[in-house]
Amino acid sequence: MSDSLTDARTPPVAVWSQLQALKGDALKAWRMAEPENRRSIESRNLDLPFPFGWYVACFSDELAVGEVKPLYYFDTDLAIWRGEDGTARMIDGYCRHLGAHLGYGGRVAGNDIECPFHAWRYDGAGAVTDIPYARTIPPQVRKPCDHQWPVIERNKCIWFWYHPHGTAPMWDVEEQAETADPEWTDYEHHEWYVWGSLQNMAENGVDAAHFRYIHGTADFPDYALTSEGHKRTGVVHSKMDTPWGKVDGSIAYGTIGPGQSYTRFGGICDTLLVSAVTPVSQDKVHVRFAFTQRRSDKEGEKAGVARGIIKNLCRQLDQDKVVWDRQRYMPQPVICDGDGPIAAFRQYYSQFYAEYEPDPAKKIASLNMVRKAKR
Ligand code: FES
Ligand SMILES: [Fe+2]
Repeated sequence: MSDSLTDARTPPVAVWSQLQALKGDALKAWRMAEPENRRSIESRNLDLPFPFGWYVACFSDELAVGEVKPLYYFDTDLAIWRGEDGTARMIDGYCRHLGAHLGYGGRVAGNDIECPFHAWRYDGAGAVTDIPYARTIPPQVRKPCDHQWPVIERNKCIWFWYHPHGTAPMWDVEEQAETADPEWTDYEHHEWYVWGSLQNMAENGVDAAHFRYIHGTADFPDYALTSEGHKRTGVVHSKMDTPWGKVDGSIAYGTIGPGQSYTRFGGICDTLLVSAVTPVSQDKVHVRFAFTQRRSDKEGEKAGVARGIIKNLCRQLDQDKVVWDRQRYMPQPVICDGDGPIAAFRQYYSQFYAEYEPDPAKKIASLNMVRKAKR
């Protein structure tokens, strides 16, 4: 490859042409809007199962005591509420009586949710606790719903456990200490819909070559990833030139199952990014970024740098989104030597698909083998 060809591919990167005109509200609208001419799930090979794990339903401050909200994730209508005891609970959205949606017009009664249609009340397991106009509660609905949605509140987020077979949580949501530390700022939130698959998005982290061509980084990252069960962690250390001289910088990141991840930036301005990806359907993912920064960095002479870090990380998501919104899943990709550990990533990720092989002794080697054979 000639130098001039190489140069032509270095920054400004190609996707900037799609993004540079988008500012302020137009950028925010683009982040959530459905792309025109969206292709079918099947034609993009996105008919993958949903991986199991903990996922964010909403931020803690989006659900007040006594509040009810409808949600739609995992192709399922859901209702979430916060009882008078302060605990968030979530059940299937449709009433077991005559099918009203509990999230539209329902209300909180004590710690239960009350259906707007005939006032049946449900606890957090979906069992009917009261029917105000009936002498007895039919025995079928005294039992909890078949599909349970365990909920836990941590890191100022409300998380729910998804498993296609209703299997109970297999690990815990990891706590990030900064989120409860008064020396760190409240969250700054950003959100997107990505019109693609969760797995393609997760693969991005190990896709070494794209950092240069999509994000305009000078180098390809050097990976030191460690996988242990459902967790994957990595750290990158580098010397950074700053107005305050050379600073030892570090980026530590981790994923805890498919729905929880964090990135911790140390050195120039301590920043924690809590990122959450929750599937809406097979080709739509709700992405949330929540940033917290050390107050002394955010509010001091480094305030501009602190803002710049957040802006830059959001821009990276914008850049990836240009591709993800249209990307097809390649079950058997042709990989070259500079591509990063994509095969190892797929093997790690395949453990979150319940549909195929629950027996660890026969664990599937890669998702390529577990995906429904279509053609
Ligand atoms: S439909 Fe919910 S109480 Fe009747
Ligand atoms: Fe990326």
